[in-house]
Amino acid sequence: ANFDCIIRNARCATASDVFEADIGIVDGIITALGKKLSGGEKEIDAGGRWVLPGGIDGHCHFDQPTEDGTVMADDFLSGTRSAACGGTTTVIPFALQRKGQSLREAVEDYHRRAEGKATIDYAFHLIVTDPTPHVLDEELPALIAEGYTSFKIYMTYDELKLADRQIIDVLAVAREEGALVMVHAENADCISWLTERLLRAGKTAPRYHAESRPMLAEREATHRAITFAELVDVPILIVHVSGREAIEQIRWAQGNGLRIYGETCPQYLFLTAEDLGGEDDVEGVKCICSPPPRDKANQKVVWDALESGAFHVFSSDHAPFRFSGHDGKLATGSAPSFDKVANGIPGVETRLGLLFSHGVEKGRIDINQFVALTSTNVAKMYGLYPRKGTIAIGADADLVIWETGGQKVINNNDLHHNVDYTPYEGIEINAWPLITMSRGRVVWRDGQYLGQPDLGEFLPCARPAMATPKPFWEER
Ligand code: URP
Ligand code: ZN
Ligand code: ZN
Ligand code: ZN
Repeated sequence: ANFDCIIRNARCATASDVFEADIGIVDGIITALGKKLSGGEKEIDAGGRWVLPGGIDGHCHFDQPTEDGTVMADDFLSGTRSAACGGTTTVIPFALQRKGQSLREAVEDYHRRAEGKATIDYAFHLIVTDPTPHVLDEELPALIAEGYTSFKIYMTYDELKLADRQIIDVLAVAREEGALVMVHAENADCISWLTERLLRAGKTAPRYHAESRPMLAEREATHRAITFAELVDVPILIVHVSGREAIEQIRWAQGNGLRIYGETCPQYLFLTAEDLGGEDDVEGVKCICSPPPRDKANQKVVWDALESGAFHVFSSDHAPFRFSGHDGKLATGSAPSFDKVANGIPGVETRLGLLFSHGVEKGRIDINQFVALTSTNVAKMYGLYPRKGTIAIGADADLVIWETGGQKVINNNDLHHNVDYTPYEGIEINAWPLITMSRGRVVWRDGQYLGQPDLGEFLPCARPAMATPKPFWEER
């Protein structure tokens, strides 16, 4: 046989093109795109459906240690299973450095957590919480050279946040070594002051989570992060951007020629602060994430920014905690104060179907933008392109055949994560993955999970071109 598998009658889309072809696959790699390919050991008829590069989720948290007695509901087993069923073929979760821990230890610990469990390929971002001289001068450069070429830093959360000078130091290492820094931008002191004031007034319900983290705290921190990036002269990615004022800062930076990238997530398109519930609504904890969902007007601005190119990537920020039980959202009691609830919501499986249905099918973004935001740009941002993120000869056969035109409603019973709810319950979708293929192997077909927990491989990442500083115009 010429091919292990031929996908026939595929209506392919990449970030730039649309074409009809048969796709020939050998050893998990695309080796031919053409008409009337022959000699496949196996054939799949796409029947003219969209065939897109598998999704890459560049922001998801699996089995990440926490400090407060909560446990993330998804490890690499259930997390990658859920991802695959939703059309995602690569995930990039986070190896968290605890304060006082070496980065190397954090990476080794996280490899142990992933070992033998992933059904799809994965890479790691680092989370740098303790940038000692040893970390900055030795560990970070060594780890970047080994393929950990992106890391996240926090401007909020006591156990994670960096001081301004530490942020500048970390950005300088990223510039020197060619790594991409992801910034969680919220002003910690604004949030702690507001939180104390709300608690003193007895305002402890989940809904006050949103009031304790207003847009201005995000706007200020976004501006500050951009300022440090300009100072050091290095590109950065502002992650999980929630609405207008932060987007204005990103647009302002981009308009001034700075390489500032933006990421947004489904929660800022499909949820609002009202989903945090009323005065005594414990279920509101299900939508507690940071930054919090805003309002309908902000949702529209986020859609517009996706359409106009202000955002480069669309990720889930899957941070899974169960509603019931003693180690999830209610770990500190059955009516917890909002500031004691684990931050984060699940979404690794619903990310693509939601954006395809409400973005592409409703005409807000086109099919090429969908591929760019959910796959190609993510691969480029983190040094996985062109092996991942496109349909091309030589690329991995990470492919999704999409079913469109039907109608269904998101229901947690249909999902494959380990979380006992989805914040997107009841939302209508009219596009979902029919078949997900990871390096040529079918891992999801017609509603059946067909993956195996040890088929996914760790992917060392190259230094991303998107992380390089802009050349000065005089030198061009
Ligand atoms: O609330 C959130 N987003 N939790 C996940 C961790 C993070 O900051 O991305
Ligand atoms: Zn040392
Ligand atoms: Zn974050
Ligand atoms: Zn996150």
